[in-house]
Amino acid sequence: MAEDLTRRALLGAAGAAAVAGAASEVAAATEGKEAPKAGPIKIVGLSTSPRKGKTTAAALQVCLDAAKAVGPNVEVELIELAGKNIPVFDPAAPGSGDFDQVAAKLTDPKVGGIILGTPVYFSGMSSLAKAFLDQCMACRKSNFALANKVGGALAVGGVRNGGQELTIQSVQAALLCQEMIVVGDARPTSHSGATLLNTGDDISGDEFGLSTAKNLGRRVAEVALRIAGTAR
Ligand SMILES: Cc1cc2nc3c(=O)[nH]c(=O)nc-3n(C[C@H](O)[C@H](O)[C@H](O)COP(=O)(O)O)c2cc1C
Repeated sequence: MAEDLTRRALLGAAGAAAVAGAASEVAAATEGKEAPKAGPIKIVGLSTSPRKGKTTAAALQVCLDAAKAVGPNVEVELIELAGKNIPVFDPAAPGSGDFDQVAAKLTDPKVGGIILGTPVYFSGMSSLAKAFLDQCMACRKSNFALANKVGGALAVGGVRNGGQELTIQSVQAALLCQEMIVVGDARPTSHSGATLLNTGDDISGDEFGLSTAKNLGRRVAEVALRIAGTAR
């Protein structure tokens, strides 16, 4: 019993050290970056599909095009995690692969909004999305480096009503843990985010889903601009 407790204490200490290490990497990457007083903001689309350039990335690009159309001071960037090394988060084992490099981009003060896109895998987010969101523990430990950025969620499924809404809700719950400001899609669709249907690796026929993607991109950009105007 005593031995078990000691082992647990040791594992806990190792886990804390691992998180502290990743957090200091994120802190180092963001250190010295001053929030611009004026100037453009950036909206990032983060695809967590293991398949590069497929429907999740395509749907995010629709969001980003709509975000860019909000005004000349909105820049956009699509980041795909496909092919990157984002390990399963293990508090007891150090090593966060390519996470720090992606986190440095997301925590840049110029980034006003992040839209996380995921394929629906058995009515939930992809394991890549979950691994990434768990690795974001380092952002929390680094003085909540993602706080007050606007967050949106997008899910593409192969079936209508295949779990898209459930999936985006679980992504949003994780974004709330980062003190992000979570928004849904703007009018006229105005629900919890972007929900799309993939038919044969093609989303172009999903008129309603594409509307939700456009309206999410617009909403994220509009709210991010409001925050930038008041808080910077
Ligand atoms: C392991 C696995 C589980 C899936 N589960 C679902 C599901 O529960 N509901 C659904 O609508 N589609 C499901 N799909 C289909 C994908 O969500 C769909 O093909 C998606 O567009 C893939 O995104 P991508 O093109 O970016 O890879 C699943 C696909 C895989 C590989």
